[in-house]
Amino acid sequence: MIPVSTIADKIKELKVKRNAVILAHNYQRGEVQDIADFAGDSLGLSQQAAKTKADIIVFCGVHFMAETASLLCPGKLVLLPDEHAGCPMANMITIKQLQIKKKEHPQAKVVCYVNSTAAVKAESDICCTSSNAVKIVSSIPKDEEILFIPDKSLGGYVASKLNRPMILWEGYCPTHHRILAEHIIKLKEEHPHARIVVHPECTSDVIALADHVASTTGIAKYCRENDAREFIIGTEIGILHRLKKENPEKSFYAITKLADCSNMKLITLEKVLWSLEDLVYQVKVPDTIAGKARTAIQRMLDLS
Ligand code: 13P
Ligand code: SF4
Repeated sequence: MIPVSTIADKIKELKVKRNAVILAHNYQRGEVQDIADFAGDSLGLSQQAAKTKADIIVFCGVHFMAETASLLCPGKLVLLPDEHAGCPMANMITIKQLQIKKKEHPQAKVVCYVNSTAAVKAESDICCTSSNAVKIVSSIPKDEEILFIPDKSLGGYVASKLNRPMILWEGYCPTHHRILAEHIIKLKEEHPHARIVVHPECTSDVIALADHVASTTGIAKYCRENDAREFIIGTEIGILHRLKKENPEKSFYAITKLADCSNMKLITLEKVLWSLEDLVYQVKVPDTIAGKARTAIQRMLDLS
């Protein structure tokens, strides 16, 4: 096996030669986050993609994220280092199912979590991410009906925060649903002074126990700025790399090590290098849906 430092050096060299930028989600393997030009949450990554001057974007994340980058940068080459890195939640709704649901609720505005395919986004009115979902839903007049897709947990969280009923799709993140309230209660007994910080993709009973609920970048910000020395973390465990790196003097406890997204972990340093060498795997949204999908994302960015 080639040493990590050699691979990282080769990536850096090739990145300059190809005028590429490497974007990594906060759940990526530590060594992948470390070679990235920017690591962040879904919103931050799409904002970075939209403003980059690079010719190539190597997206270290899952397919819908690379698709979003491609929609925002139609002239650029967007690469996903492993073509099988998908998001199970995004696949819990199909375009056909959504069209049927829209017929049942013809007046409803469709708010679509960014964890969805471009085709589903194209059938939606506006997109949101975990960091702006409350704001996006608030921007829709109170008397309008809302169909929130595909995450019932994020949708339920927003509905309870705004005290506003919404029609929720039955999708969920299998990784976040492995985090259980009983795990938190046990950890809190062991670390009574720790703050509990969770992602809104968690179930409502987990969210009810939290001191703070936020996107992955929101979690990182809270842990940086809060005076507490210990934190119980309820999201995918890849984020612990960033939290420990940014706060070496603080302690972080994953609620469960089972919250490990195998799709996110498909991206390795070697695959990032091969991606830059062979320009694989190219992600491009067909023109037939790109325009409408882009509109839903752009509406969100304009409000963010
Ligand atoms: P954020 O990083 O936007 O909070 O998203 C979490 C997630 O599950 C992405 O798949
Ligand atoms: Fe999808 Fe959940 Fe993995 Fe995020 S953590 S990519 S929502 S399965």
